[in-house]
Amino acid sequence: MLTVLEGLLKKIILHLVIICTAAFLVSCSMENYPVDHEQLSEEERIVIRFSHVVGEDTPKGLASRRFAELVEERTDGFVEVQVFPNSFLYRDGEELDALLKGDVQMIAPATSKIASVVKEWQVMDLPFAFESAEEVKEYISSPVGKVLTKKLEQEGMYFLSFWDNGFKQMTNNQRPLYEPEDFKNLTFRIMESEVLEEQFHLLGAVPHVETFDQVFPILEKGELQAQENTFSNIVNKNIHSVQDYMTVSNHGYLGYLVIMNAEFWQGLPDEIQIILLDVLQEVTEWEAELAEEVNQEKYEFLNTCHCIEIHQLSEKEKLLWEEALNPLYDSYVERFGAEYIDFIPKFKE
Ligand code: LMR
Repeated sequence: MLTVLEGLLKKIILHLVIICTAAFLVSCSMENYPVDHEQLSEEERIVIRFSHVVGEDTPKGLASRRFAELVEERTDGFVEVQVFPNSFLYRDGEELDALLKGDVQMIAPATSKIASVVKEWQVMDLPFAFESAEEVKEYISSPVGKVLTKKLEQEGMYFLSFWDNGFKQMTNNQRPLYEPEDFKNLTFRIMESEVLEEQFHLLGAVPHVETFDQVFPILEKGELQAQENTFSNIVNKNIHSVQDYMTVSNHGYLGYLVIMNAEFWQGLPDEIQIILLDVLQEVTEWEAELAEEVNQEKYEFLNTCHCIEIHQLSEKEKLLWEEALNPLYDSYVERFGAEYIDFIPKFKE
């Protein structure tokens, strides 16, 4: 009887804490929670498990940690974001399933990986579609960008923000890549995306889908010869140490959809949603600058490490790559319609 009463009392106190906290938050424009929630158990606090596949010292790794710290600070520990980096909990593919099942509440996969659920997102994989991170942002906030984010909701994912990494470069252990012919028969690790698969087929290479955690071991063992990724991912995963050549091609953009399980999001108190969005906006701006800095820093490292031969794709070579890869645009339009392409800044009238 006593334990039932205790339980009831605990619940009433918890509800009172939540109500008071919410009222206080609204009245002081989202400043810190007045109550110390350190003593509350996991069941009494809000816990957000945030899983991702990259290292901690990457733009996504650092941003997710900063997000966790700021959320804890602004809610005085009432909301705890537990970050699981490096595929520690779930690998590519698995993390999306885990999110949809509610085993984790938040993930930030590369846009290519979302394409297994919402195929139209493969627009982001089209080669040479974007020339800067600003163009990517412009596209994401365009009317079709909004259609794309809405499609996530229909699949049980709530879109919170878009985080940057940077442009992808080609690396391999066989020869320098100048022209499309140089790709012939090279075996490439790719993310799961039909556009990426077709990209390498058009270049005469042999693409294999592999999860990110397998990139280094597979290249190290020589099971595959090549891959495409950003400077930060290349250095962070030590990929440069098992590859001999890199072409700085900036041919594709790698960015992340920061998403939550839609049901979990809808179940959060309004005040908490406001704080999370507020923090995310701040972290997103910080992350964009950081991504640029980290990629520049890792590029400088690669340029001076004498550990990989670097070729800068010339304008003439770029035209040859574009020519070889142009059929991708036609097949995308055939499958999903021209509107997704029309809003890419360089195609806008
Ligand atoms: C990859 O799989 O190559 C990247 O998407 C990893 C990441 O999340 O940056």
